[in-house]
Amino acid sequence: MVMARFDVTVAGEVNLDLILYGLQESIPVDREILASDFQMTLGSSAAIFAHNLSALGRSVGFVTRVGSDPMGSLAMERLAEAGVDLSHCTIAGAGKTGVSILLPHGRSRRILTYAGIMFDMTVDDLDIDYLASAPHFHLSSLFLLRGLHAGLPDLFRELKQRGMTLSLDTNDDPEDRWDGVLQELLPYVDLLLPNENEIRRIAHRDSVEEALDVVSDTVPLIAVKCGRSGALIRQRRRRFMAPGLTVEPVDTIGAGDSFNAGFLSAWLGGASAEECARAGNITGALSTQRSGGTEAFRDRALLTGFLRQHPLPERHR
Ligand SMILES: Nc1ncnc2c1ncn2[C@@H]1O[C@H](COP(=O)(O)OP(=O)(O)O)[C@@H](O)[C@H]1O
Ligand SMILES: [Mg+2]
Repeated sequence: MVMARFDVTVAGEVNLDLILYGLQESIPVDREILASDFQMTLGSSAAIFAHNLSALGRSVGFVTRVGSDPMGSLAMERLAEAGVDLSHCTIAGAGKTGVSILLPHGRSRRILTYAGIMFDMTVDDLDIDYLASAPHFHLSSLFLLRGLHAGLPDLFRELKQRGMTLSLDTNDDPEDRWDGVLQELLPYVDLLLPNENEIRRIAHRDSVEEALDVVSDTVPLIAVKCGRSGALIRQRRRRFMAPGLTVEPVDTIGAGDSFNAGFLSAWLGGASAEECARAGNITGALSTQRSGGTEAFRDRALLTGFLRQHPLPERHR
């Protein structure tokens, strides 16, 4: 392996989240409907993860394809402010940066996404030596990165051959098929980070436990995010529940990506699965304390205060 330049490299999509608060689940047509509040924040699973991992003090190299439009520029600015390395991102000549409109309705939420150029990134946009300049590689939102699918099994194989560990958060499959390249990738994955719905769909099983029985034969460590209840961890035959923190959320957008950042940061430091899960629950809960997935991590006073109240496990670098 070449000398590690980063702690983690990430490839994925980038977009802005436009969040409208206070809307009822049933929204009538042909009426003007007023939201009670609005926020525009850095969105997309990969970008939120990279941003927050960097805010937690890890060095992160992020690769994406971004549109040459104000939405793309703002998203990249936010990532740069958090200290994420963007030196290998490519700017698309044509096509728009994607956008998500989010409607939190209390416990449930709507996510309406225009993918824009998210679908366009291919492995030709990725510099493999750059991705390999860290001991760990993370991929988010598999089903939005359609252009990558053809090249991903070879990419994962190559990164594993170079001695790296890999983590995957598929997020939702908008087509709800959960097949294709996913099953080819799982054998290379060291750490899988689904939520409860996603693990059931990945395994094509009705219950989370059944799904974990299936997937844990292939993936050595799985952290299933269970919202306010915390996370269910499966490490081969071992399973345990790591309870979530009790907090009053502003919204839970990006909580999963923030959980991933805390979990992975601890994991890279050599922490136990219990400590990693605890770290994930802390950073997941932290993200709910402000709008969207990254605002809580941009607020340095909140970040420091929250982590003083809920300390992350000692790292063993
Ligand atoms: N209401 C909440 N209270 C406390 N922690 C939460 C809450 N919602 C989410 N979290 C934390 O964030 C993690 C990820 O949230 P979750 O909504 O399960 O993921 P995803 O966004 O991927 O669906 C949870 O495992 C938990 O640690
Ligand atoms: Mg998620």
